Amino acid sequence: MKKKIAVLPGDGIGNEITKEAVKALKAVADVFDHEFEFEYGLIGAEAIEKEEDPFPWETERLCKSSDAILFGAIGDPKYDQDPNAKVRPEQGLLKMRSALGLFANVRPTVSYPILFEHSPLKNELLKDVNFLVYRELTSGVYFGKPSGRSEDGEHAYDTILYSKEEITRIARMAFESAKSRKKRLTLVDKANVMATSRLWRATVADLSKDYPEVTVEFMFVDKAAMKIITDPGHFDVILTENLFGDILTNEASVIAGSMGLIPSASLGSEFKLFGPIHGSYPGGAGKNKANPIASILSAAMMLEMAFGAKAESRLIVSAVEEAMNHGIVTEDLESEKFYTTEQVGDAIAALINSDKMIDFNTVTII
Ligand code: IPM
Ligand code: MN
Repeated sequence: MKKKIAVLPGDGIGNEITKEAVKALKAVADVFDHEFEFEYGLIGAEAIEKEEDPFPWETERLCKSSDAILFGAIGDPKYDQDPNAKVRPEQGLLKMRSALGLFANVRPTVSYPILFEHSPLKNELLKDVNFLVYRELTSGVYFGKPSGRSEDGEHAYDTILYSKEEITRIARMAFESAKSRKKRLTLVDKANVMATSRLWRATVADLSKDYPEVTVEFMFVDKAAMKIITDPGHFDVILTENLFGDILTNEASVIAGSMGLIPSASLGSEFKLFGPIHGSYPGGAGKNKANPIASILSAAMMLEMAFGAKAESRLIVSAVEEAMNHGIVTEDLESEKFYTTEQVGDAIAALINSDKMIDFNTVTII
């Protein structure tokens, strides 16, 4: 298999973590005799500095000419502290999602037994937690017009707008996914208050006729926020709109023990992007301490969802699990004996490449 992968490291720790994901992909390519070509592009604060645009045209062209995109992180405190900044790195993310039509954001929550002690939830709640959130990504309040301030500055407004078509295309993906899993789909909304939520319900209820094997459940977002914490094992596939999905996926991410573990896929009808759900962690940038696992697992999602390479994807996931089982983790997961970003990435790459041996005591690759 020959594939071109666009790599957009972005800001903060983006460089360090995507480097480790590329390492894992190269190890997979070695084992399976694939050819992956990596081409790098600018996004976020770095792109503003060099090109005055957080998602420059060259980056868009690179993404559109690649088979998949590996994304790092976006965000720089310089812009967060400047309320007058005209362009912000995050605009690059929204522009990219929209330009590439990445309408479905898939974020998994899996609880690894080895990390139970890191989860704020009680152990008995963590058994068998494995759910996916399908978050709508290119519409809703993030893109709804009008949005702004009244002339006198006394009022502000945002618009949530959804069309049946926008709901249908992501709902179909979520139904298909549920069909291949535990066959339960939970639509999270606020249909008791919002008209858009009622359109989501009606549309999903209609579609459910095409998927008789999938059990559909409707849940208000306030109840879902509680249930994710009190009974996370209940869920299989959650489908929700942009803003609710943003909030609930952050909530769900703490269940696994660290945000540094959660990968994601952003899918459209033409392009597919993969990257961690965490931000740019500016405090950790350049310190070789950020957790590369979310980025490495994003590479695993890429192999499966963009290239249909299941065995390759599985190999990365089991290498990650093995590294964690041997305590080869970064500081966020282990305060006493921890390893650097690079060491964790090296160990995972060595575990992928069965020709190499690893001494787990010293994390030396032999
Ligand atoms: C995310 C982020 C973004 C979002 C921000 C940075 C605009 O929080 O990817 O979840 O809200 O979508
Ligand atoms: Mn978010």
